[in-house]
Amino acid sequence: MENINKYIARSLEDYNKLYNQSVSNPESFWEKIASTFVWRKKWNNVLSFDFKKPEFKWFVGGKLNISENCLDRHLLDRADQTAILFEPNDPKEKSQEISYKELYQRVCKFSNVLKNNNIKKGDRVCIYMPMVPELTVAVLACARIGAVHSVVFAGFSSTALAARINDSECKMLLTADGSFRGNKTIALKEIADQALINCNTIDTTIVLKRTGQKVLMNSNEKWWHDEILKVDELCDATEMDSEDMLFILYTSGSTGKPKGMVHSCGGYMVYTAYTFLNVFQYNPGDVYWCTADIGWVTGHSYIVYGPLLSGATSVMFEGVPSYPNFDRFWKICEKHKITHFYTAPTAIRALAKHPISYVENSDLSSLKVLGSVGEPINKEAWNWYNDNIGHNKCPIVDTWWQTETGGIMLSSLAGVTMQKPTYATKPMIGIQPVLLDLEGNELIGSDNEGVLAIKFPWPSIARTIYGDHDRYKNVYFSTYPGYYFPGDGALIDSKGNFRITGRVDDVVIVSGHNLGTAPIEDVINSHPNVAESAVIGFPHEIKGNALRAFVILNDENNCKEIVNEIKNLVSKTIGPIAKPDIIQIVPGLPKTRSGKIMRRILRKIASNDIDNIGDVSTLLNPEVVDLIIIGSKDF
Ligand code: PRX
Repeated sequence: MENINKYIARSLEDYNKLYNQSVSNPESFWEKIASTFVWRKKWNNVLSFDFKKPEFKWFVGGKLNISENCLDRHLLDRADQTAILFEPNDPKEKSQEISYKELYQRVCKFSNVLKNNNIKKGDRVCIYMPMVPELTVAVLACARIGAVHSVVFAGFSSTALAARINDSECKMLLTADGSFRGNKTIALKEIADQALINCNTIDTTIVLKRTGQKVLMNSNEKWWHDEILKVDELCDATEMDSEDMLFILYTSGSTGKPKGMVHSCGGYMVYTAYTFLNVFQYNPGDVYWCTADIGWVTGHSYIVYGPLLSGATSVMFEGVPSYPNFDRFWKICEKHKITHFYTAPTAIRALAKHPISYVENSDLSSLKVLGSVGEPINKEAWNWYNDNIGHNKCPIVDTWWQTETGGIMLSSLAGVTMQKPTYATKPMIGIQPVLLDLEGNELIGSDNEGVLAIKFPWPSIARTIYGDHDRYKNVYFSTYPGYYFPGDGALIDSKGNFRITGRVDDVVIVSGHNLGTAPIEDVINSHPNVAESAVIGFPHEIKGNALRAFVILNDENNCKEIVNEIKNLVSKTIGPIAKPDIIQIVPGLPKTRSGKIMRRILRKIASNDIDNIGDVSTLLNPEVVDLIIIGSKDF
């Protein structure tokens, strides 16, 4: 087997050479990268695709198991090296260093627990757990026996959890009694119980004891620690086809219910590991920390799979940046001598608001590489990160990608390619991004602004939306035929660097979380006193964007009470992250003659850019614009 290091770019020259190879002959390029992994059977052909269907198959006919590549293959050369370094919520609780060997053993055992409870290849398992090592164990155990994991972020409400369980017809739920988050203890099992009232596909629930709080256990609900005692130590990894489903992960769409993005085994494995090593330039002995939650794609690809496939030490943090103090992130960097720190701009902006002494009192000298993900990073945040955390010596990788792309698509390679503040810069090796005008023509050359599109498949592109291939086709492949359309706008500078300018659809990125406005409107409209609503994003100093809901009430008595009810309803149905910052009670909403809400006008109002509202005379109800500006009530 070849060593992947041979194909990692260590200089600008390497990057240019590898990039050219990857574009001029993608199949022979990716075949070489794939050859650095363990396959039970080699593929027959590297790629078959059709943008019209759309269908993408990588390493066709190849057989493998990704958990074998994350664990078993490291047992010879790094069995005792730490795979997962766990930092608990409470700094007084001991951190845990779980070696590759121990992780392998724990995954094998839990794989047998799954099997013992009747889980078979292809069954869907919902994982609703705190950020504890057992979450990683659960993910890898599913992968090991060929079950499809669907991790649901443990901050989601019972309604959101039920919707996700039902959509993918999960057979099992893995959860915990509770979870620690800062000074709060969240009753995870209780939320799961609420969800399960509306789910009828779950046969068994396995509950991890984390907080020790009292929970109700039904006859089909079992304790994790009891189940572990009943099984054998060893579990052979199940042979999977390269295109078999590895996991489903839900992401918001601009309309309708969340989309269960489906990722498959072979391509996802090759791409996440390859990008991890290139972007972060991870070297043996480094301690890499991505602060995301495994409930999001960043955690899947760059806490679990990418790092473990690469034999790295990956940190898992259970808590929040503000507990017990606003120096927690920096104290963890000091304590574990973190070399690679990967976080979201929202966290950077929030922490930058606090006295600099929080940073200065921690020794950050171990840091070598900083990363940013999830939303555009503004210049002030970039500079603060660079000056105070990186001390102007750590390259910052601004990584643009999505749940749908599986891995990083645009980013500089740490210390290898040029970085430019607020720019994600260059395509990853193998990625062919273009800018399109609104008619779908490619904008050739630099200094352009348009819609971002990708014109050639890459190994970890999501293969479908679970149960709804038509929607997959419509959302990503129909607006600009022949391209993958991610829904972001971008510009390109004179040197070919890309800068993401933001969403071009009705998705708003709030604190790095992807939120569709339509599903939030649906919840607001379900309140008996609401006639109609429109939710839009507006710029927010810390969160990047915040939500503002314009709401027409049937009866404006008791506005304050109703507004609180609306906020609670959103929080309960979707989750606290979807709660609008401002609810504005309005007498009407600006509409086109065909009845479509003119969100552009609402966005201008929300960002106080009233002078640039433009011509409203063609509206169905132009008078409403002034009424909103002068006569409405904010809450
Ligand atoms: O709008 C882009 C923004 O986040 C969206 C994807 O969200 P999600 O699927 O939740 O995945 C987030 C983590 C990969 C993108 O369409 N986004 C992500 N990274 C960046 C970004 N916007 C600007 N710069 C980034 N680095």
